[in-house]
Amino acid sequence: MPEMDRVLGGGIVAGSAVLIGGDPGIGKSTLLLQILQNMAGRGLDVLYVTGEESSGQIGMRGKRIGALARKLLVLVEISLESIMQRISEVKPAAVVIDSIQTLYCSLLSSAPGSVGQVRECSERLILQAKKSGIPVFLIGHVTKDGSIAGPKVLEHMVDTVLYFEGDTGHAYRILRSIKNRFGPANEIGVFEMRDTGLREVSSPSEFFLSERPKGAAGSAVSASLEGTRPVLIEIQALASPTNLGMPRRTVIGADASRVSLLVAVLEKICGLKLGNHDIFVNVAGGVRVSEPAVDLGVVSAVFSSYRNRPIISDTVVFGEVGLTGEIRGIGRTEDRIREAARMGFSRCILPKTSIRMDSPPAGMELDRISHIRELQAKLF
Ligand code: TYD
Ligand code: MG
Repeated sequence: MPEMDRVLGGGIVAGSAVLIGGDPGIGKSTLLLQILQNMAGRGLDVLYVTGEESSGQIGMRGKRIGALARKLLVLVEISLESIMQRISEVKPAAVVIDSIQTLYCSLLSSAPGSVGQVRECSERLILQAKKSGIPVFLIGHVTKDGSIAGPKVLEHMVDTVLYFEGDTGHAYRILRSIKNRFGPANEIGVFEMRDTGLREVSSPSEFFLSERPKGAAGSAVSASLEGTRPVLIEIQALASPTNLGMPRRTVIGADASRVSLLVAVLEKICGLKLGNHDIFVNVAGGVRVSEPAVDLGVVSAVFSSYRNRPIISDTVVFGEVGLTGEIRGIGRTEDRIREAARMGFSRCILPKTSIRMDSPPAGMELDRISHIRELQAKLF
């Protein structure tokens, strides 16, 4: 599964322990069942251990997503000792534990899901993986505050921590590596949930821009680096007049304090009267971006909404904005430009200081700016 391989840093490493967290119902069980199915389809014995569902339920899901290979073995069990016993008997090519919070080790008297149990069970499974070379995937529930339930030490014990994100109301799902001993962290894989299971989305830019309104004020396209790959995203902003003494600043998908900073720069340096406007910023498609490179995209979207003018079509905007309004250079400029060209854009507004590109893609115009004051003339 190329998207999964990418997130793992090239594929499954022998003896590795991978923790996968995510909200209930997001698709963790489905994802891992599909991965095991792929392995089983290549003639490898694989073991799916569940303490959450009955074998009948797993069978029904397996049927739906076409994961019913003979070599895909299912074990319904919560006793750690029995599970470890079966793993050493079967010697599968990979093991999935769904979920780590359901396991129970008889050495401890505390209940499954307690910190002690989660820690002890994980420790022993990871040790077994290291000794036997059999990779283990641990599924973990996520608590309300968004961290994997159980001790934080779990994240230190495993080699790789992945989060499966998305919103159950939408079909897209993002698998993100938070920590990876075998590859770059923050790499993402994009999937779409269908009736027949998860489907890989090999061109995320296409996916995130698919519902973009053309010629609408308040919409800007920026290029964010997600792990090692550049992804084009749409940033939407709405600046609407308000009588509230404290105008609202609502941000979804980006860092709220960073957006406040950019709004202040627009106000002070470009003279926009944003103090009497509510401002909403949303990154379309449910991605979360954290790179300063999208600053210029946020600024452009707010600018466009405030002026109520659409940005010139087929333009991608990226660059970091400093407190004095200077536009700062960012990394991997060429990759972003190439991705913009691949997606059919014909112009990039970017920092003057970013490295020169020897041969920009055909039909791509590069508009370099060094200060936010130059932006307006380029946008509209
Ligand atoms: P699941 O893998 O059980 O989630 P988790 O293990 O993270 O709790 O997926 C549950 C959701 O996915 C469920 O609401 C139904 C949906 N789904 C589909 O839309 N299509 C499918 O083919 C499958 C198997 C599940
Ligand atoms: Mg599940």
